[in-house]
Amino acid sequence: MCSLLVPFPTGCGLELLLVLCGLDLTQTCPHHCICYDSPSTVSCQAHNFQVVPEGIPATSERVFLQNNKIQRLLQGHFSPTTVMLWLYSNNISYIQPSSFSGFTRLEELDLGDNKHLRSLASDTFQGLMRLHALHLYHCGLITLPAGLFEGLHNLQYLYLQNNQLEFLEDDMFIDLLNLSHLFLHGNRLWSLHQNTFRGLGALDRLLLHQNRLQWVHRQAFHDLRRLTTLYLFNNSLPELAAESLSQMPALEYLRLNDNPWECDCKALPLWDWLRRFRGSTSSLICIAPPESAGKDLKQLTKEQLPSCTALKSLHQTKSGSQGDGGGSLKKDHHHRSHNHHHPHLPHQDQHYPTSPAPLPRPPKSGRNRNCTRHRRPKGSGQNEVYNLKDSGNKESDGKNDPSKPRRKNKCIPRTSVGPPSGVQRANSRSTALLASSFIIPLCLLVCLTALIFR
Ligand SMILES: *[C@@H]1O[C@H](CO)[C@@H](O)[C@H](O)[C@H]1NC(C)=O
Ligand SMILES: *[C@@H]1O[C@H](CO)[C@@H](O)[C@H](O)[C@H]1NC(C)=O
Ligand SMILES: *[C@@H]1O[C@H](CO)[C@@H](O)[C@H](O)[C@H]1NC(C)=O
Ligand SMILES: *[C@@H]1O[C@H](CO)[C@@H](O)[C@H](O)[C@H]1NC(C)=O
Repeated sequence: MCSLLVPFPTGCGLELLLVLCGLDLTQTCPHHCICYDSPSTVSCQAHNFQVVPEGIPATSERVFLQNNKIQRLLQGHFSPTTVMLWLYSNNISYIQPSSFSGFTRLEELDLGDNKHLRSLASDTFQGLMRLHALHLYHCGLITLPAGLFEGLHNLQYLYLQNNQLEFLEDDMFIDLLNLSHLFLHGNRLWSLHQNTFRGLGALDRLLLHQNRLQWVHRQAFHDLRRLTTLYLFNNSLPELAAESLSQMPALEYLRLNDNPWECDCKALPLWDWLRRFRGSTSSLICIAPPESAGKDLKQLTKEQLPSCTALKSLHQTKSGSQGDGGGSLKKDHHHRSHNHHHPHLPHQDQHYPTSPAPLPRPPKSGRNRNCTRHRRPKGSGQNEVYNLKDSGNKESDGKNDPSKPRRKNKCIPRTSVGPPSGVQRANSRSTALLASSFIIPLCLLVCLTALIFR
């Protein structure tokens, strides 16, 4: 919009004006977009673009293209200098495998809310060694190819919620040594295997609610020694091995409600574990046996849970083997996943919130936002993911670490995320128009003042 200023005499102090406007005309800028400097930013959101606009400067560091109707991402659309790339809420159904190849500086990639993005090539994210946050929520993903997250050693936030995933390959996340948040809720997962989460030694939050889980391997959480939050509510679990829970020494928040708990003798180890657990748990309402139906497992007395004669043999199989015998089972699991559905469950994934807003976001840079601090809701029985926002206090750990410059403003929900500081909010045409109708007269005023005082 400030190209309007170019015809003015140079004596008018054009450079001064440009500095005042915060604009840099030496770069190209795609039509209908707004470009800024330091860091080099292209802001093209909410313009009904059906393709990635041409003319994105080769030096761009931040590219905002959310809320358009882009359908395909191809090689050459973006520059390998990109650090932050927002493409959420488009209509992307195809990503050419090489689209991000060589993007060694990319830290945040938001592809969320592209409902027709059903599949991804396994090398789509290859080489993104700086990637810190990857958003793939609400994309209609049906499977994840093995190796999709290979080499993403710096990834801390992986958002895969509200897709249609039924199965996770063994060792899918094995390279994600730094992963802190793994969101998998609102999918169709029905089982967790011994090596599903192998390697996730830094994981803090694992959200698995609103799936169709009926079976969790007793070693499924064996590497999650730093996990504090585990949500398993609203699944189809009749039982859960206490042993799987004792493998997470840092666990603080556990939600197990809305599962069809069978509170017979098999539940005794879980009952015992819950009794000793110091963190916060939900209720576990029993559906069986008849005399316990409707009661909370945690409220039952030991006498109400008869000991199994078979319990002894169960304990014997409890060897702490964490070996990697899982590989050979891979094919078998994969096969089973496609013909094993739980018939009487609603299609939970068709029930999305109107926006992904309540989900905690990885931090965005930007200063002008208002963060309200909350206390962690110790002991609250709620399921809401909202609560996760409140546990942001520990984020201060990362604050002083210069290697994590954007670990602040954790509390900002999705909808309030705008361009980072220095970037004008141009979420709609109207705000862009408003901005231009304000800035141009201001520039002219300054220009005239400069002329008068010469
Ligand atoms: C989105 O893409 C799908 C196919 O990928 C197409 O059928 C649909 O019409 C597109 N919707 C819009 C609004 O462009
Ligand atoms: C990621 O993990 C590796 C290996 O554990 C470590 O060297 C590196 O510093 C970590 N990076 C971040 C950003 O935590
Ligand atoms: C469980 O999931 C269904 C379907 O998504 C939803 O309607 C229901 O509210 C959920 N229940 C709880 C307790 O979250
Ligand atoms: C910012 O937070 C303060 C309280 O911390 C509140 O009084 C104020 O209204 C908030 N401002 C905005 C713009 O939300």
